[in-house]
Amino acid sequence: MPQDFMSQFYLDGKTALITGAAGYFGRRFVQGLLDARAAKVVIIEKEGVGPDFRYQLDQIYGSRIAWYENNLADDDETDATYGRILQEHDCPDVLVNNAFIFGSETGFTLGRREVIAGTTHEEFRQCFEAGLWWAFQAMQKLGPVMRARGSGSIVNIASSLAVIAPSKHTYEGYAHAVNPIMYGPTKSGLLGLTRRMADLLAPVRVNALCPGAIPNLAEGRHKAGKEYEDNFLNDLTKRMVLGRCGEADELVAPLVFLASEASSYITGHPLMVDGGWTVTSQEVR
Ligand SMILES: NC(=O)c1ccc[n+]([C@@H]2O[C@H](COP(=O)([O-])OP(=O)(O)OC[C@H]3O[C@@H](n4cnc5c(N)ncnc54)[C@H](O)[C@@H]3O)[C@@H](O)[C@H]2O)c1
Repeated sequence: MPQDFMSQFYLDGKTALITGAAGYFGRRFVQGLLDARAAKVVIIEKEGVGPDFRYQLDQIYGSRIAWYENNLADDDETDATYGRILQEHDCPDVLVNNAFIFGSETGFTLGRREVIAGTTHEEFRQCFEAGLWWAFQAMQKLGPVMRARGSGSIVNIASSLAVIAPSKHTYEGYAHAVNPIMYGPTKSGLLGLTRRMADLLAPVRVNALCPGAIPNLAEGRHKAGKEYEDNFLNDLTKRMVLGRCGEADELVAPLVFLASEASSYITGHPLMVDGGWTVTSQEVR
């Protein structure tokens, strides 16, 4: 047992890389990594996304932040960016594969009712690419370098829908986007990839963080309307042992735990942070 037990949670001297860092969870993850004393946080974000966040980070943290604008959907550009990151910074100690596309490209189509018939091959492909290939490409480029160095922690952001299917009853009576068919399989695939890479990259640890229903209310209400969001979420929470949806801030400590030496003997693990959504087989209230 280390003398200062809590020191295991700190990332002193470490470099952490995170994709999709200016998104809903990403911003909180970046703040958490910085609060956990990471020496540097390397950010990958799509061009033009999050200028306010970038400015704010630059003002407060200066050279502790390195921001790379990069379109993860472009393989060549992404390969080159990972190459630059390896040259310009030390090999990352922590890699967080967080980016994803929530949009009609991946089947998150407002108002869609025909979830089976309506799904296209192109949506399926884009969902798999964003949810699986982007994470694999990062691990393919950076994982072997971390492994050669002999340490590191990779955290893949999956979902509770990697282990359960969303019930069709959840969406009955709501004229809103049904969770697309391929989202769950994509995140299940990410758990499979996490296990495989945990074996191949050891002693680098590879784990998954599985958030439950953590709605982005500002965006949801903008897209679907306040009434929709409130009623829908009210119904959804009937399935959660803790009886409520989660707050994005509640993901940060679990992320830091997986990223840090506090989880030094944990690898290949899917950590559910879902208020018990995946614990029972039916409505709990
Ligand atoms: N929000 C939830 O309730 C929820 C629940 C479970 C799991 N998740 C997972 O958590 C992760 C983050 O979700 P979020 O809610 O913060 O989503 P978000 O849409 O707010 O963030 C995703 C980020 O990825 C970036 N991105 C998208 N396309 C990109 C590209 N081509 N190149 C580079 N960056 C790109 C976006 O710009 C955005 O900043 C995702 O993997 C998601 O599947 C979310």
